[in-house]
Amino acid sequence: MKNFKKKYGPWALITGASTGIGKAISEQVAQQGLNIVAVARNQDNLDALQKELQTKYAIEVKTISADLSDPKANHVINEKTKELDIGLLIPNAGIENNGPFIENDLDAEYKMLSLNTTSPMILSHVFSQRFKQRGGGGILLTSSLFAYQGVPFVSNYSACKAYILSLGEALNVELKPLGIDVTVLSPGLTDTGMTQNMAVNFKKIPITKHVPQVVAKVGLKALGKKATVVPGLINKFYAWENRLIPRSWPVKLFGFLISRART
Ligand SMILES: NC(=O)c1ccc[n+]([C@@H]2O[C@H](COP(=O)([O-])OP(=O)(O)OC[C@H]3O[C@@H](n4cnc5c(N)ncnc54)[C@H](OP(=O)(O)O)[C@@H]3O)[C@@H](O)[C@H]2O)c1
Repeated sequence: MKNFKKKYGPWALITGASTGIGKAISEQVAQQGLNIVAVARNQDNLDALQKELQTKYAIEVKTISADLSDPKANHVINEKTKELDIGLLIPNAGIENNGPFIENDLDAEYKMLSLNTTSPMILSHVFSQRFKQRGGGGILLTSSLFAYQGVPFVSNYSACKAYILSLGEALNVELKPLGIDVTVLSPGLTDTGMTQNMAVNFKKIPITKHVPQVVAKVGLKALGKKATVVPGLINKFYAWENRLIPRSWPVKLFGFLISRART
């Protein structure tokens, strides 16, 4: 990643930085020599990440514990980081509810909608304004392969991720003249706490599981070069074939695969 620090440093703000894909992204951003503001709820995990990255990469790490499903918390993040010259935003925090839509708890669905869509939208808005003022920056959004079609039994989550894909595609074009790079990373199945806790037997779904480090690398390498990126050949095929066939077909296929794999 040539000139990464020069282009997007000296500071990066990463949400959901403490575990999974966000942690892998944080490590690779730290490796590039950027200082990091790491955001998540669990302070112990943030403290461990801070210690690890500061020791390994001789960078500065600040932590903010916040529940980003509360829209106000996202504005607080902006306020708390006003003094830092942040050139890279990675609003990656997300959760995944699944199960029959009508049986899922409505408050939990609303909370997921807020964390997965409202939080990245607010942060992208306020940080784009900051990036415009400083003459450039980068935004790496985390969507999902599930964004490329509706996914039965993961309905609200896949809808959230479709919102992020669409938002990022549009901002990639809209913000380019301001020197702001926007890329949407859409991982397929990735080995993190999120998928380990899902009531789905992924062995029954013909899809490859990636490690977070590979997913992070694909996303960071695409920043500034591509509007959207999907890690993995099979995942790329799933995303691509959707554009060639009637929209209802992949929805039915995923509905069949997920209902068969639910535990
Ligand atoms: N794993 C996959 O297969 C997969 C596939 C496609 C897309 N993705 C996306 O990748 C992103 C990262 O997911 P992951 O798989 O790495 O999951 P993960 O390991 O569960 O990580 C989620 C991160 O978000 C933080 N978080 C959760 N709720 C939060 C809240 N209310 N406020 C602030 N931070 C919160 C978590 O820390 P705390 O719990 O301490 O807050 C953690 O740092 C998500 O946007 C997810 O939708 C994942």
